[in-house]
Amino acid sequence: MATWKDTSYWSLPLLLLFVRFCSPVCVEVPSGTEAVQGQNMTLLCISCMQREEVFAITNVEWYYEPSDGNGNRSLIYEYIDGRHNKPQSQFTGRLQWIGSKDLQDVSLILQNVTITDSGRFFCQVNRTLHFEAHQHSTQSNLEITLIVSKVASEDFTSVLSEIMMYIILAFLTLWLLIEVVYCYRKISKAEEVTQESVTDYLAIPSENKENCSVPVEE
Ligand SMILES: *[C@@H]1O[C@H](CO)[C@@H](O)[C@H](O)[C@H]1NC(C)=O
Ligand SMILES: *[C@@H]1O[C@H](CO)[C@@H](O)[C@H](O)[C@H]1NC(C)=O
Ligand SMILES: *[C@@H]1O[C@H](CO)[C@@H](O)[C@H](O)[C@H]1NC(C)=O
Ligand SMILES: *[C@@H]1O[C@H](CO)[C@@H](O)[C@H](O)[C@H]1NC(C)=O
Repeated sequence: MATWKDTSYWSLPLLLLFVRFCSPVCVEVPSGTEAVQGQNMTLLCISCMQREEVFAITNVEWYYEPSDGNGNRSLIYEYIDGRHNKPQSQFTGRLQWIGSKDLQDVSLILQNVTITDSGRFFCQVNRTLHFEAHQHSTQSNLEITLIVSKVASEDFTSVLSEIMMYIILAFLTLWLLIEVVYCYRKISKAEEVTQESVTDYLAIPSENKENCSVPVEE
């Protein structure tokens, strides 16, 4: 239940399952950016390998820059030469590696998120291929801007139903307006017609009267 709220995209776990079970397929799914205080947040970082990088040595570094950090980022986690290193930081004891064996997924779980965890996380993945005479390196950088809120934002479905309600309300109002205008026109037209017919009615008898009165007088 918690992970569903953590990711905030309900489709994300499905995509992750897809990535995990179909190992030849790697999809660089973007990380969720909204976390809730006191819950666990997955800092998703997927860096797909090129076919020729299968034998590359992968090093990973995670950096954090607080919201008001003035570009001052600090190392919070690293995976270098097969060893996990966790430098002392505000995240000490709260970061859990959930990366995959092939190191295409190098994600972390940040446990018990606090408001002060808001900021930018950087996931840096280096892959180095060693050849006899030279080495070839590739580097990928991913940035996650984490926003921590005190309470869970509303469910997607409730937001959707709220939007639907507003659409229906707007539609009904418009329909009512059209109906009112239409009715008003119809009524004023009908009034014109009745006024005309009333004057007709009044006019005809007077003519008739005159017409009638003439023979009577004769
Ligand atoms: C966060 O993760 C830790 C360790 O996996 C677990 O013990 C804890 O219950 C989790 N907390 C929440 C709110 O899911
Ligand atoms: C990746 O390479 C860059 C440039 O060589 C270096 O500054 C950085 O520390 C490396 N990162 C990792 C995770 O090895
Ligand atoms: C960056 O932050 C570290 C601690 O997180 C601090 O020791 C250092 O002085 C800061 N550097 C700058 C330029 O603000
Ligand atoms: C989460 O953090 C709060 C404040 O930092 C602390 O009081 C609480 O005990 C922590 N909960 C867990 C499960 O670590």
